[in-house]
Amino acid sequence: MTAGPTTVPAHEPAQGRAKDADPGAGTGAGAGRDAGGGGAAPAEPGPEGGDPFDRDALPAPAGATGALLRSLLAPRRARVVFAAVLLLLQQAAVQAGPLLVAYAIDRGVPAFRAGDHGPLVAVAAGYAVCAVGAGVLQYGFIRASARVNQDVLLDLRGRIFRHAQALSVDFHERYTSGRLISRSTTDVESLQELLSEGLQELIGVVLSFVYISAMLLWLDLGLGGVAVLSFVPLYLLVRLYQRRAKSVFMTRSTAIAAVIVKFAETMNGIRPVRAFRRERANDEVFAGLNHRHERSNGDALLEMARYVVGSRLVANTAVAAMVLWGAYRVASGTLALGVLAAAVLYLRRLYDPIDRLGMFLNSYQSAAASLEKIAGLLAQVPSVPEAERPRELPARRGGPGAGREVVFEGVGFGYRTGGEVLPAFDLTIPAGQTVAVVGSTGAGKSTLAKLLARFYDPTAGRVLLDGTDLRDLSLRELRRGVVMVTQEAFLFSGTVAENIAIGRPDASRTEVEQAAKAIGAHDFIAALPDGYDTDVRKRGGRISAGQRQLVAFARALLADPAVLILDEATSSLDIPGERAVQHAMDTVLRGRTAVVIAHRLSTVEIADRVLVMESGRIVEDGAPAELIGGDGRFAGLHRAWRESLLG
Ligand SMILES: Nc1ncnc2c1ncn2[C@@H]1O[C@H](COP(=O)(O)OP(=O)(O)O)[C@@H](O)[C@H]1O
Ligand SMILES: [Mg+2]
Repeated sequence: MTAGPTTVPAHEPAQGRAKDADPGAGTGAGAGRDAGGGGAAPAEPGPEGGDPFDRDALPAPAGATGALLRSLLAPRRARVVFAAVLLLLQQAAVQAGPLLVAYAIDRGVPAFRAGDHGPLVAVAAGYAVCAVGAGVLQYGFIRASARVNQDVLLDLRGRIFRHAQALSVDFHERYTSGRLISRSTTDVESLQELLSEGLQELIGVVLSFVYISAMLLWLDLGLGGVAVLSFVPLYLLVRLYQRRAKSVFMTRSTAIAAVIVKFAETMNGIRPVRAFRRERANDEVFAGLNHRHERSNGDALLEMARYVVGSRLVANTAVAAMVLWGAYRVASGTLALGVLAAAVLYLRRLYDPIDRLGMFLNSYQSAAASLEKIAGLLAQVPSVPEAERPRELPARRGGPGAGREVVFEGVGFGYRTGGEVLPAFDLTIPAGQTVAVVGSTGAGKSTLAKLLARFYDPTAGRVLLDGTDLRDLSLRELRRGVVMVTQEAFLFSGTVAENIAIGRPDASRTEVEQAAKAIGAHDFIAALPDGYDTDVRKRGGRISAGQRQLVAFARALLADPAVLILDEATSSLDIPGERAVQHAMDTVLRGRTAVVIAHRLSTVEIADRVLVMESGRIVEDGAPAELIGGDGRFAGLHRAWRESLLG
């Protein structure tokens, strides 16, 4: 077959290329850098501080946090109102207690002495009713609010997952999975803490402040005045504590995020960690982060302790002053004993939760901070968005298994974090052609493949599939149009059959087995403990890297895409299996348009056309035989390969 028509290698050499790693290679260099990384805490703001991705939180647009909260609560508005009413009534029932005590002392006891049991019995009955009522109301409130809380948390976790999954590859390259985990665990939990206890207590405290102050002022203006006056130092104390605790809490939340990030990155990159014996160094870094978290926890507790001591001091002073003054007035006959007793009871109730008020305010604050971080994440928009008016392609000419034409039209590309990687170029791959792409590491082969698979959108130009811009295609059409198989050959938890069926979820078991047979994976799958039903994450389900690649091939074959991209997808298949590999390749490529990136000479030889890439540009383009016959780069590479095979 002849070489493809157009290749216009363009202009000057590309700039700003990384010298060492090949991020396209996944588990290799990229993960190794993260996992083996140096001493600095990953979640800390970098010294440059310019990139928001260097910080733990992405900036949330103004009002996003409030809008998020509203959107979470809005569908449950009726229940929220119901819970609030229950809480109001419950507080009223609870706060009736001391008033009844006052009545019992001042009216009930004298009446009882005079032989009238009525008032005392009435008070006792009232007390019982209030106690039972408060209990019932509290139960109702807990039920109603727990439903709301659970719904909100479920909703929020779901949103984080769906949103993160929908975000583009370049987002995930910059926002580590550790941070995502910390968003959907620690941050959701801090909201949970607030919703499940903090908010109730906080509202309870505010309500009891209002109720009790009103009650005290009504009972006795002077005593009420003492109570209200004591709010001033308490308020100042809370403010002071809030200010001091805020920074401690910020440090603490960043510290725990750093612990999670380090943890996740190390375990994700466990192979390079082992390979480079990074365990001890990682232990040290982790111990440092862990200690930092512990210290910030200690600091938080210390602040808390200071606050508690201070608030108790104020509370006890106020009670003492009230008892002293009240006793004088009772003695001089200007105050009823029952009123004094009620006032002291009220005051105790008032101050009791103040100890914990600081804590609730903290949980409120840390929940607000967490919500803001989540809102920042949810505000991210995919850089590779789904088409607004998605287009479908006409049926493939030649039916299933046939290819489609691929055109790169003036395509140029640079990653967000770096300079230009691919200078503008044109390339047309006719339907059904198999193109091998060769070139040294970092030449841009994987980048070209990722543009074709629409992991990224080009910075300039368009990528067309049978004449339609990839950006205009519906997700379904894109999925059927282009499939990329990479070196990693990732398997999801589940059975082998399920993993193959990912290519086409509605495929029958027979079709799954047919695909596996065609690829040459059937024998090893049949030999697994449960055959096709073997769970790939369970004992006995462990399959080798090469076998994983065969599963990935079967998955791709079942998916039956018009364009198949293999990015070093045969690198884990060993040389003795060469013929099997060849067979698998032939099967999966037949009829389709294919882009094959490979170091393997035999793979290149089955191609219709070879592209040689260098520094982001296509420097040679032709049929294999034609290029080998010439004296270009590929001819040189080919000679070296041959010699290495012979020697
Ligand atoms: N995710 C990425 N972010 C930033 N730069 C990248 C990324 N992936 C690759 N690069 C850079 O783009 C260039 C081409 O990489 P790549 O296409 O993976 O090369 P190849 O597959 O030919 O080895 C390299 O300089 C590499 O450093
Ligand atoms: Mg690559």
